Amino acid sequence: MKIGVLTGGGDCPGLNGVIRAIVNRGISTYDDTILGYWDGWRGPLEGRSETLTLARVRDILPLGGTILGTSRTNIADPERLATVIAQLQADNVDALIPIGGEDTLGVALRLAEAGVQVIGVPKTIDNDLSGTDVTFGFTTAVQVAVEAVDRVRTTSASHHRGLVVEVMGRHAGWIALQTGLACSAVATLIPEVPFDLDAICGLVAASIQERRDAIVVVAEGALPRAGTIENDQGGAVDEFGHVQVGGIAEFIAKEITRRSGVETRSVVLGHVQRGGTPTAYDRVLATRFGVAAVDGLHQGKTGVMVSAQGSAIGIVPLAEATGTLRTVPRQLIDEVGAILGIDSADMKYK
Ligand code: F6P
Repeated sequence: MKIGVLTGGGDCPGLNGVIRAIVNRGISTYDDTILGYWDGWRGPLEGRSETLTLARVRDILPLGGTILGTSRTNIADPERLATVIAQLQADNVDALIPIGGEDTLGVALRLAEAGVQVIGVPKTIDNDLSGTDVTFGFTTAVQVAVEAVDRVRTTSASHHRGLVVEVMGRHAGWIALQTGLACSAVATLIPEVPFDLDAICGLVAASIQERRDAIVVVAEGALPRAGTIENDQGGAVDEFGHVQVGGIAEFIAKEITRRSGVETRSVVLGHVQRGGTPTAYDRVLATRFGVAAVDGLHQGKTGVMVSAQGSAIGIVPLAEATGTLRTVPRQLIDEVGAILGIDSADMKYK
């Protein structure tokens, strides 16, 4: 077969592991040819690609980012979709493996419906894709955040300051939740549960008094309870209609300082969480996803996505993965909410 591969959306530790596995499996097991498209959907849209050889992917497993480049290009409109299909035909590509999140895989579904053989590979550090228990990149992001919190905690304790650490998570609080638990934060704020600033002030002040430090972990997409404060995070909008968020930690830190009198600073981890070398777990998951995608194509599958199901790798319909986001469930908040300083009674259903 001639298999096309591309990476779309935000970069993510482990992307190169998937690319490497696809090239290795395809060439060594099936004698395939692998064509790598550059910069997400922009590659097939503009006809920019390269043939991937075993030599090209030899040392990329520990590398962050993606050797193919990425973009948030959307090709959902019929004209662009037709251009991409024509490009795949011109390149003699038999099947495509798009690696991406809900947006990239949503477009993949449209292509599958148009008759292109497609198997998607789920990717996001946010871990919020349905149809898979976990995505690669997530454990790396959490590990980076935990190391950062461990570092700023010493300053928090030495200066008796509150410290608000902002992690990624636009719609789902998985990274914040794991980081807050792993770092015993006094409060962990996630998009699923609107927060109450006065309650956070109380937790920070008590913690500074009792143990000298106070860490608050906040997901970038967390929002205050309706009516408690104004928080307009509206930034630029990408081609898929997502608003750029970020910066809420600074706002919260200023409010804690103003309301409680406890000096509080903020740190935004931002893209630090998405960069650098993947954890061993993410390298292994990425590799298994890549192998399963190539095997699936040779079994004639299409319109599906590889997925982590317990310790096994399975296949689910793309529609299942792109229908709704997998946010933190209420059951988990009930289980760990008290430790996180979250009142599960406030749980907002989506
Ligand atoms: O979807 C992954 C993610 O890292 C989100 O957590 C974040 O809001 C977004 O991407 C940021 O994207 P960009 O790097 O394009 O600003």
